[in-house]
Amino acid sequence: MNIKSFVAIPIVSVLCLGLWAGCSSPKPKSPVAQAQSPIPPQAQPQPPPSPLLKTNRLVIHADQPGAEISRNIYGQFSEHLGHCIYGGIWVGEDSPIPNTRGIRNDVVAALKKIQVPVLRWPGGCFADEYHWMDGIGTPTNRPSMINTHWGGVTENNHFGTHEFLDFCDQIGAAPYICGNVGSGTVQEMMDWVEYMTSDADSPMANLRRQNGREQPWKLPYFAVGNESWGCGGNMTAEFYADNFSRYNTFVKNHPGNNIYRVASGGLESDYHWTEVLMKQNVDRLKHGGQAMNGYSLHYYTLPTGNWSHKGSATDFNEAEWFNMFQHALVMDGLVTKHSAIMDKYDPQKKIGLIVDEWGAWYDVEPGSNPGFLYQQNTLRDALVAGVTLNIFNNHADRVKMANIAQMINVLQAMILTDNEKMTVTPSYWVFEMDTVHHDATLLPMDLQSVDYAFGDKKIPAVSASASRDQAGKIHVTLCNLNPNQSIEVPCELQGAKAGKISGRVLTAPEMNAHNTFDRPDHVKPAEFNTFKVTDDGFITTLPAKSVVVLEVD
Ligand code: AHR
Repeated sequence: MNIKSFVAIPIVSVLCLGLWAGCSSPKPKSPVAQAQSPIPPQAQPQPPPSPLLKTNRLVIHADQPGAEISRNIYGQFSEHLGHCIYGGIWVGEDSPIPNTRGIRNDVVAALKKIQVPVLRWPGGCFADEYHWMDGIGTPTNRPSMINTHWGGVTENNHFGTHEFLDFCDQIGAAPYICGNVGSGTVQEMMDWVEYMTSDADSPMANLRRQNGREQPWKLPYFAVGNESWGCGGNMTAEFYADNFSRYNTFVKNHPGNNIYRVASGGLESDYHWTEVLMKQNVDRLKHGGQAMNGYSLHYYTLPTGNWSHKGSATDFNEAEWFNMFQHALVMDGLVTKHSAIMDKYDPQKKIGLIVDEWGAWYDVEPGSNPGFLYQQNTLRDALVAGVTLNIFNNHADRVKMANIAQMINVLQAMILTDNEKMTVTPSYWVFEMDTVHHDATLLPMDLQSVDYAFGDKKIPAVSASASRDQAGKIHVTLCNLNPNQSIEVPCELQGAKAGKISGRVLTAPEMNAHNTFDRPDHVKPAEFNTFKVTDDGFITTLPAKSVVVLEVD
C-alpha cells in the first residue's frame, strides 16, 4: 500500500521488563537492549513536511490478488494477569456465575461471535516463571506461587493446562502456548509438549490420562520463551539464539502433531536481534537442525509515549487522540523493517512475523490495582484496532499471526467483567466486523489519503485494507481518524465491478465513547449506507472517527 502522506512519527519505546508491577513507573531498559537498540527514529534526520493533501484516492487492485490474510491475525492473548484468567474466564464450577466446567458461559458466547482463531497463554512475562506441572491434577492439591510480575498476588494454579485447552475448545480457538525458557528447564518444556500431544504409552502421556484426558490434544503453535531480551531472562540476541536452538530441539513433534515454533523477538525496533535470529536459523537449517517457523514482534501504543504517565483511557483531549494514532501507525514501519531483514534470509517468506503482543496501554483505571493493568476501552481504541489490523492485512505475506493484548479485563480488552456483569468493548466490535477478512485473499491497494493535521503535525486521515472472500465478495475496512470531519473516499475498483454494496459502521458522538456494565450497547455497529456505485467503483463518505466495513458484491 502506498500512503503518500508524509508521517513524522516518534517511536514509542516499549520497555516492559519483568520484576516490575504493572508499568506504573518507567521501566528501565535492560542494559542488553540498550546496547543493541538502533538509533531511535526521532534522532534521525526527518524530511521536511509535505503540503497538506486535499483529496483522497483509493485504487483497489482486485485483478492482482495478494497473499491469504491468515485468520490468525485476529488472534488474542490471555495472561495470568489481573482478572484476565481469574474472574474473566475462570470462575470455578461452584460459582453462581453460569459456567461450563468452571469457564464463564457469557464470555464464551461473546467470544464465539468474533471467531477467535488462536489464543496465546499463559503469558507474557508470566510464562517465563510458569511451571506447568503446578497446574495439573486435583485443583486443591496444586501448589501456589507468587505472580511477581503482576501485583505480587498468589496464583493458586486452578487454571492450568487442562482448563486452558478446554477453554480453547469451548470458543473454537487454536491454542498457542508460550514455554518457559527464562526459569524453566529444557526437560520441563519437553515434558509439557509430551504431556499435551503424545499418544504413546509414555510417562507424560500416562500422567495426562491419570488426570482425566485420554486423547492427546492438538498443539499447533508453541513459543520458545517470551521477551527474552527483558522479563524472559535479559538475554543478548546471541545468547537467546543459542537457547532457542537448544530448547527448540526438544520440542518434539509427536505423531499426529506438528508444531509451529515461534522465537522471541527483541525490543520492538531491535533490528540486530532480528538479524541474529534469522541468520542463525539459516545456519541451523544447513546443519539439519530444528528451525523456527515464526518470529515474534511486540509493540504497544501509548498516547503520551511516556511509561510514567501513559495517559488516561477515557479522559483525554484531541492532542492525546492524535498522538495515539501517530504512535499506532508506527506499527507499519516496524513490520516493514523487520520484514525487510527477514526477506534477506528468507526470501520465500516461509517464516511468519508473529505480532503476538500489541495494543493500547494506558494508566490503570483510578482505584484499580496498578499491577492488574485494567483500563477502559473507547472508540479511540476501536480505531487503534482498525488501523492496526489494516496494517497487518496489508502485510499478509509476512504477518502470519497477531495477538491483541489482552482478551479480557487487561489492556486493550475485548471484554470487561465485574463479578457476574459483563460488557463487550468497542475494540471487540472491530474484531467482529473484520471477521470477513479471515482467510480471505488480500487485494493490494494504493491509497492517497488527506491529512489529519493537529498543531504542526499531521498523519494520513484514512487507513484501509481490502480482501476477497471465498464466495467472491470484496470487503473493505476503512478508518477515518479525523474526529471532527467526515471524509469522502472515491474508490476505483480495478478488475472488478461494484454491483450491490452494503456496509456497517462503528462510531459515536464522543471521542471517548465506551460501554459500561449499565450501558453495554452504547458503542456498537450500525448499518451504513453512505456510499454510491460509480462507473469505476464506488464512492463513500466516512463519518468522523469511524470504522466502516463495506461489502461489495
Ligand atoms: O501484556 C503485558 C506484558 O507486556 C506481557 O506480560 C509482556 O510480555 C509485555 O511486556
